[in-house]
Amino acid sequence: MGDTLQASYRQAMRSLTSAVCVVTTRYRERRFGMTATSVTSLSMSPPSLLFCVNASASLHDPVVGSGRFCVNILDACQEHLAQDFGGKLAREDRFRGGVWSEGDYREPCLDDAQANVFCRVDAIHDYATHSIVIGLVSEVRVRGTVTPLLYQDGRYTVGLGDGIDWVVSIGG
Ligand SMILES: Cc1cc2nc3c(=O)[nH]c(=O)nc-3n(C[C@H](O)[C@H](O)[C@H](O)COP(=O)(O)O)c2cc1C
Repeated sequence: MGDTLQASYRQAMRSLTSAVCVVTTRYRERRFGMTATSVTSLSMSPPSLLFCVNASASLHDPVVGSGRFCVNILDACQEHLAQDFGGKLAREDRFRGGVWSEGDYREPCLDDAQANVFCRVDAIHDYATHSIVIGLVSEVRVRGTVTPLLYQDGRYTVGLGDGIDWVVSIGG
């Protein structure tokens, strides 16, 4: 890819606003986590999503090895966690902030995230530097208002909350 095309593509992506998530897993008794904006809903039937992970990221091989992961959809007040899991802190240190519990497979679950979506890895497609990981949803925990942390133009920002206030847990 030419420098000009790469630069203009990068510039175009700065105008693509994305919700910020922390994807986590547990593998061989260790916790791993990474900030990700590549999480996308794939299908409602079956409930499934995907995210893209760089093959060099510390989360990559543990997700492949464990076959399980949790998508923690961050709240507007959790920018510090996005920074920590985006590489600011060393790996296990990333879990010092936030209140963490566990899923059925001991995946780290951020209790005060907007939502936690637990998945089993159903398919992985390698593409260039990244793997596209497709997860089949096995459990969902949602809570509170819809107040997403967003990433746009290389910065964190917040969306408009809708004021919904409810708590529900589905699946198991
Ligand atoms: C806002 C934001 C979004 C990111 N989204 C992704 C992503 O979708 N996929 C990815 O592989 N890395 C993404 N990254 C980079 C990883 O979070 C970062 O490289 C990783 O946590 C650090 O690598 P390490 O765990 O190997 O130290 C993102 C970083 C930030 C700050």
